[in-house]
Amino acid sequence: QSAASTCRALLQWYTGVSESRGMPWRKPYDPSLSIDARAQRAYEVWISEIMLQQTQVATVIPYYNRWMEKFPTIRDLAAASIDEVNSLWKGLGYYSRASRLLSGAQKTVKDFNGRLPDNAKDMEAHIPGIGRYSAGAICSIAYGEVVPVLDGNVHRLLSRFLALHAQPKAKATLNILWSAANDILTTGARSTENPAIGYPGDVNQALIELGSTICKVRDPNCEECPLRDQCAGYLWSSASKTASD
Ligand code: ADE
Repeated sequence: QSAASTCRALLQWYTGVSESRGMPWRKPYDPSLSIDARAQRAYEVWISEIMLQQTQVATVIPYYNRWMEKFPTIRDLAAASIDEVNSLWKGLGYYSRASRLLSGAQKTVKDFNGRLPDNAKDMEAHIPGIGRYSAGAICSIAYGEVVPVLDGNVHRLLSRFLALHAQPKAKATLNILWSAANDILTTGARSTENPAIGYPGDVNQALIELGSTICKVRDPNCEECPLRDQCAGYLWSSASKTASD
């Protein structure tokens, strides 16, 4: 099966389930938005992605809404004190995430005229607390950049999909999985060369969402997975079941 058909199956599934599932940071990608409106989206997606790093979606939603009420723009955040930021973070844990948001906002106002960099390379290089995953998520979702994501969910999903038996954190393993994420994305994401299929942020969120809701750590729900027929892990497990029947 080709990466293009994987991408198509993912997007078709995502279109059916997404409806944003009550996540206030999810808004349809709109290529006609102004630069400032995109930068505002990047700010919102940034806050959501950092909150979601160690915390479940349902827990994050009220924190995210309170945060946006208090700091509607990155300039509001940059002007805040660490005590104000920490009090909004209270209960989420890993407080270093909050202090990095504050310093990231201050740096963005000082060095980038209040707009988060519009590409993953610059974002990762210049904004504290943003690594390869977060930069990919923010830039693909808010700016429409064709750049992949690999978080814990996507790592697990693609390892099963490829039936990759390898040390999960080894550099070679990560290279294989980032490449697989990139292949799926680039065959199906809209770009100047390929205006036909889906927006990169949708492809990436489809992978994240499939990993967290269907291809779960325990008891993956293969019967409902749109990638089942292409999944080497599924073929392996169903072959061993057939053999022992
Ligand atoms: N977890 C991390 N990023 C996410 C996103 N964009 N949507 C849903 N869950 C997520």
